[in-house]
Amino acid sequence: MAQIKVAVIVGSLRKDSFNLKLAKGLAKLAPPDFSFEILKLDDLPLYNQDDDASPAATVVRFKEQIAASQALLFVTPEYNRSIPGVLKNAIDHASRPYGKSVWGGKPGAVVGASVGAIGTAMAQQHLRNILGYLNVPTLGQPEVFIHAKEGLFNPDGSIGEASLAFLQGWMTQYTAWVQKHL
Ligand code: FNR
Repeated sequence: MAQIKVAVIVGSLRKDSFNLKLAKGLAKLAPPDFSFEILKLDDLPLYNQDDDASPAATVVRFKEQIAASQALLFVTPEYNRSIPGVLKNAIDHASRPYGKSVWGGKPGAVVGASVGAIGTAMAQQHLRNILGYLNVPTLGQPEVFIHAKEGLFNPDGSIGEASLAFLQGWMTQYTAWVQKHL
């Protein structure tokens, strides 16, 4: 069975990030024909258009990883009611030089966790706006606005009981959505 590769982009660099844990927990719920790879963002330089003709090796690697994937998953915190700069920086890198974006046409989804009650809803709306421009068709429902609190994850990193059925259902919808767009 050919593996369907999902490039996972996590918008937090924090060691104990809830969103990193969410990305890892979701990957454990994936069906066997899907593989989820969390991409490294912390070695990407700040985007500078002057570098378009000679991108850093880390930028080349990041773009190649996106290009080699069949689908995308964005797992992001909310920073000041939008997406973190780290995530926007990565998105901008892979969208350039003009005409050489690697995002277009790959089916994607947006999920997120925050300590705030609205669970990244505003950041996700901003991200959906960006992805629309980049021609990334994005799963509409179910929306995943996770309020990070005690019990969200089990000690082994798996998704805790309270969110498990919901997120397993989300995974079923997401993978069906990806299959439809391949
Ligand atoms: C936050 N946080 C936050 N939370 C939220 O729900 N809405 C917001 O607008 C913000 N804004 C914000 C800005 C900045 C600069 C930081 C550092 C944090 C809190 C945020 O939800 C919390 O730090 C999460 O733990 C971040 O996600 P990770 O790193 O755990 O994945």
